[in-house]
Amino acid sequence: MRKTIAVISGDGIGPEIVGQAVCVLQRIAQRFAHDFTFAPAPMGGCAIDAYGKSLPDESLNTCLAADAVLLGAVGGPKWDGVEKENRPEKALLRLRSALGLYANLRPAQLFSQLADASPLRADIVANGIDFLVVRELIGGIYFGNHQTEQIDGEPVATDTMRYSRSEIERIARIAFEAARKRRGHVTSVDKSNVLDCSRLWKQTVDAVAVHYPDVTLRHMLVDNCAMQIVRDPSQFDVILTENMFGDILSDEASMITGSVGIIPSASLGEGSRGLYEPIHGSAPDIAGQDKADPIGTILSAAMMLRYSFDLKREADTIENAVSKVLDAGYRTADIAGLGTTVIGCAEMGERIAAEI
Ligand code: IPM
Ligand code: MG
Repeated sequence: MRKTIAVISGDGIGPEIVGQAVCVLQRIAQRFAHDFTFAPAPMGGCAIDAYGKSLPDESLNTCLAADAVLLGAVGGPKWDGVEKENRPEKALLRLRSALGLYANLRPAQLFSQLADASPLRADIVANGIDFLVVRELIGGIYFGNHQTEQIDGEPVATDTMRYSRSEIERIARIAFEAARKRRGHVTSVDKSNVLDCSRLWKQTVDAVAVHYPDVTLRHMLVDNCAMQIVRDPSQFDVILTENMFGDILSDEASMITGSVGIIPSASLGEGSRGLYEPIHGSAPDIAGQDKADPIGTILSAAMMLRYSFDLKREADTIENAVSKVLDAGYRTADIAGLGTTVIGCAEMGERIAAEI
């Protein structure tokens, strides 16, 4: 199979973790006789420094022309002062929107080898953690109007949350389809006791659910959901939610699996082209020190093979390789535990590639 992968290394630990994921993909290409071309697409703070723009047109075009996009992380304190339209994070939002990637899939899965790394009590973790957050990605408050104005002598900021029925319908369908391939249960999360957007969300999800009689649906308020995730995560199969709630809940969900460093994500739209990125940020505090955990990015590459290229065997191979290296007791610092061997980012990537 011949594929072009746009590669956005980004900022902070981005280049280190993406470098390891690319090595793993190269190893897969070699082992399974595929032809992957990697096309660099500078984006984020590094692109501001080099080209004055967080998302240069050329980078966007590289992504639009690619079969899939692999992304590390963008942003950092160095660019906090940049005007808001050119911030590194804005580049990411613009890219997601330009590629039409409305569905963000973020699995929260506990590797049994990492049960000790979970901050949850052993008796809670014992029931297992295996759910999928389906986050709406290009609507809601992230893409409403944002403004700060002077009113009565003081600054007043406004951000608007906005959803149309069709935006809710398409993400709901993704969640129900995903549930069909899993344990058949959707929890739709909203704040319908306060927000109009959430009331429309709830009604729309109910209407979509009629077409999926084989899937069970329940609604849950977002504050309760935040609590239930730590009280008993085993109750969840698919969590369906809007953009900002999904941002917050997916960080919480990742942490209970041991580390935000190991969770991948896939962002999908109508076609097969997707964007694959770990859910963590650019971690500027440990950048350049070979301490970052590349597993989230490597598992994102596996998701790319599975969802964009339909290469199931290859995706399984990467996931098994990660599991084998964990079995052997190797850990980056974020997931280190008693009796494990702490290694750096590069060695973790090399060991995973070597298992392929
Ligand atoms: C994420 C990140 C982004 C988001 C930021 C960097 C804009 O937190 O992917 O979860 O909020 O979507
Ligand atoms: Mg986030």
